[in-house]
This record gives sequence, C-alpha cells and structure tokens, in this order.
Amino acid sequence: MMKLKPGERPRISCTVNGKAASGRVESRMLLSDFLRHELHLYGTHVGCEHGVCGACTVLFDGRLARACTMLAVQADGAEITTIEGLGDDPRLENLRQAFSRHGALQCGFCTPGVLASCAHFLAANPSPTEAQVREMLTGHLCRCTGYEGMVQAILEASTAGT
Ligand code: FES
Ligand code: FES
Repeated sequence: MMKLKPGERPRISCTVNGKAASGRVESRMLLSDFLRHELHLYGTHVGCEHGVCGACTVLFDGRLARACTMLAVQADGAEITTIEGLGDDPRLENLRQAFSRHGALQCGFCTPGVLASCAHFLAANPSPTEAQVREMLTGHLCRCTGYEGMVQAILEASTAGT
C-alpha cells in the first residue's frame, strides 16, 4: 500500500502499449482520464463513464477492463494495452478491413472499444459462432450501426469466415 504525506499525489508506474509509463495522479483520477489526459492515448473513448457502453475498453493484465470504472492508482504495476497498442496485430488489420467492407462503423465512437474486445475474444476463440459473436457484442453499445455489419465483419475476420 502506498504511504502518502498530506496533499501528496500518488505516483504510479505501469506499462502501456509495451512502454513504461509513470506519473503522479490524483487519487480519484479514473484510468480512462489517465490514459487520455496524461498519456494522450485518445483512442480510449469515454461515453457513459459508468461501465455500460464499452467505449473505454482496454486490455488490463491480459483481461478486458472498463477504464472508466477503474482508478489510475489501480494501474500501478499493471500492463495495459489500448487500441493504439493493437496497431501491429495482424488480426486487427483483418478486422479493420472487414469493418470497412461491411460498414461496421459510422461515427466510430464505439469502434476502439469494440476492436479491443474483438482482439481479446478472437485470441481465445478464433472460430466463433454467430451467437458467440453477438454475445460478445452485448458488452458494447453502438448508436449507429445496428451491429449487423459488425457481426458479419467479425465472422469474416475470424478463421470461421475464411
Ligand atoms: S465510458 Fe466506460 S463503459 Fe462507457
Ligand atoms: S459507429 Fe457510432 S457509436 Fe458505433
């Protein structure tokens, strides 16, 4: 447990997208705000800010996490991957192209979170059924697309769709 003097802000150190990151943060600062405002990783979008919409989804020590429902101090010692860190993932490249072909995004606000979930989901389940894809997408709210294009794109990008 960190011991702080009165008024002192906790210092955190973590790994974000493979690089060391550290800084002093307010105890109440959300992880999503730390990623966006301190590290300038604006691909982590913030919509509802209470864990519902999925726009802020990141990988946290290999698991999916809502960055808006975690505090930055919880990231001390953690390994975090945001959508920016998934840029070299070949599966993501296939997904991005499939999303484009199937019109799976419009405004794009939900897209980074959806793609982060897709990367995690397809790594564990490379040949999902349509029902499994739809269940995975229940963790994300998209106000634009109606989800149909996303489902088709994810199936196409998975080994089930090749
Ligand atoms: S902004 Fe985090 S779940 Fe909506
Ligand atoms: S593409 Fe606009 S919210 Fe999903």
